[in-house]
Amino acid sequence: MKGIILAGGTGSRLYPLTKLMNKHLLPVGRFPMICYGIERLRKAGIQDILLIIGKGSAGLYTNFLGSGEEWGVNISYRIQENAGGIAQALGLAKSFVSPQDEFVVLLGDNLFQDNLTPYVKTFQQQPTGSARILLKQVNDPRRYGVPVFNGTDPNLIHYIEEKPKNPQSNYCVTGIYMYDSYVFEAISQIKPSARGEMEITDVNNIYAAMGLLQFDILRGWWTDAGTFESLHEAGMKLRGVKP
Ligand code: DAU
Repeated sequence: MKGIILAGGTGSRLYPLTKLMNKHLLPVGRFPMICYGIERLRKAGIQDILLIIGKGSAGLYTNFLGSGEEWGVNISYRIQENAGGIAQALGLAKSFVSPQDEFVVLLGDNLFQDNLTPYVKTFQQQPTGSARILLKQVNDPRRYGVPVFNGTDPNLIHYIEEKPKNPQSNYCVTGIYMYDSYVFEAISQIKPSARGEMEITDVNNIYAAMGLLQFDILRGWWTDAGTFESLHEAGMKLRGVKP
């Protein structure tokens, strides 16, 4: 099992802080945000980790994290030249994984309490070519990808709507995804959305349409840290916590 953390993007909602440095290096509690994702993967027994980063802060990442030795993991890096969407960033990981590898993908601005081990174990029992995503109940699902559940099979997601005006459930699709190398085939099938991005939701909907998108619901707290409010909330939750 390998790990991929997507830490590119522009972080425009956190301007002007992200003019100074990439969003995932901003402090959350006593550590840069990126450290928490690395630690969640390490705790689940995942040591080979690829970070997808933008070129602006590449030197800061390597200065701080280096090879990952200090964190008990092996870190490799790839640069996403232009922020063309989450699925585009994930596509850059193709040569990091072999055809038989399975991997966890984290969005670098997602912070959460759960240990990933049980979810990873369940995913490993799924058929080849299927995917698993983690959900969380939220107050304002309109900010997120929102699942529509399959009426007949309680293990499956029927469809995901990205930032819907009228959400059909009050769950959000968190930035915690599990795939095997079929995901690169799915990425090759999608086109940029109306906002010009390669959407991870379109990739997940390819799995959903085939009846191959399973899910779990996180038990502990979860937040993304992509806005000033959520960054502050994450900082409060992780105050004094060593990743
Ligand atoms: O946080 C969960 C949500 O993340 C999901 O519910 C949505 O379905 C999903 O689309 C995503 O929505 P956001 O609008 O919050 O995504 P955002 O553009 O903020 O990007 C999230 C992370 O992905 C960010 O930490 C960096 C990474 N990223 C993003 C883009 C656009 C990249 O590495 N490269 C990119 O080009």
